[in-house]
Amino acid sequence: MKLNQKVAIVTGAAQGIGLACASRFVQDGAKVMLTDINQAAGAAAAGRLGSGAAFCLTDVSVKAQVDSLIDATLAAFGRIDILVNNAGITHAADFLDLTEDDFDRVLRINLKSMFLCGQAAARVMVRQGSGSIINMSSVNAVLAIPNQVPYVVSKGGINQLTKVMAVGLAQYGVRVNAIGPGTIMTELAKQAVLSSEDARKKILSRTPLGRCGEPEEIASIAAFLAGDDSSYMSGQTIYADGARLALNYTVPVKE
Ligand SMILES: NC(=O)c1ccc[n+]([C@@H]2O[C@H](COP(=O)([O-])OP(=O)(O)OC[C@H]3O[C@@H](n4cnc5c(N)ncnc54)[C@H](O)[C@@H]3O)[C@@H](O)[C@H]2O)c1
Repeated sequence: MKLNQKVAIVTGAAQGIGLACASRFVQDGAKVMLTDINQAAGAAAAGRLGSGAAFCLTDVSVKAQVDSLIDATLAAFGRIDILVNNAGITHAADFLDLTEDDFDRVLRINLKSMFLCGQAAARVMVRQGSGSIINMSSVNAVLAIPNQVPYVVSKGGINQLTKVMAVGLAQYGVRVNAIGPGTIMTELAKQAVLSSEDARKKILSRTPLGRCGEPEEIASIAAFLAGDDSSYMSGQTIYADGARLALNYTVPVKE
């Protein structure tokens, strides 16, 4: 039970990668506060995970709600050792058509939320003298999808946020790392990039392992970064992408 005695917050935990992280942390002995804007699914998920889990309704892009989430976690479990900044959305629009409102909305939910939750949780971790923050980035921090402009920008920003937090918080014993998933089988991926057979084939043709990932394969990396097995690691982004970022243009693309 590598996360015994630890308390975690996982954002966007009602489904997908966030839910897999929350489940894995509970299995590993942690107490977990799941949080999401989807009250019904989030509360049901926490209920299924048992007495080691609780749910708090939070829009992570709103500071007052983030402050309430921190208070609720301290009231329920007494401390905060791990934060997984996972909540995120996509918005499809070509660059020339994208509206200012949609650009701002995606940046607020995907990037600003990680600053808000990261700062609020870090203040508690600094008082405790230790902590691990994990930001959910993407291969799209470094690879562009032309009709996912604010998503790609937000993920690039998350990689730099991870570094600047890691450097600023190192003196307090707080580590900050990111995970950059490739295509993982969740609702988000089904809507954004796996909407048709043709799209699926394109993705697989650029994924040397020849398959999409499962949420549990990201959760196991989160468990590693959350616990003491990664005690000397901070400021890094770990890419779990089926070797997509290693693929050179000279490698023939399978049809
Ligand atoms: N699935 C993939 O292929 C993939 C690849 C790379 C990165 N990611 C990243 O992983 C993270 C999780 O993605 P997923 O695929 O599990 O998505 P998902 O859509 O299945 O789950 C995202 C969850 O976040 C919640 N959420 C959305 N806005 C919120 C807000 N303002 N406050 C709180 N919760 C909110 C949603 O209700 C949902 O439960 C995202 O940051 C995403 O960018 C996913």
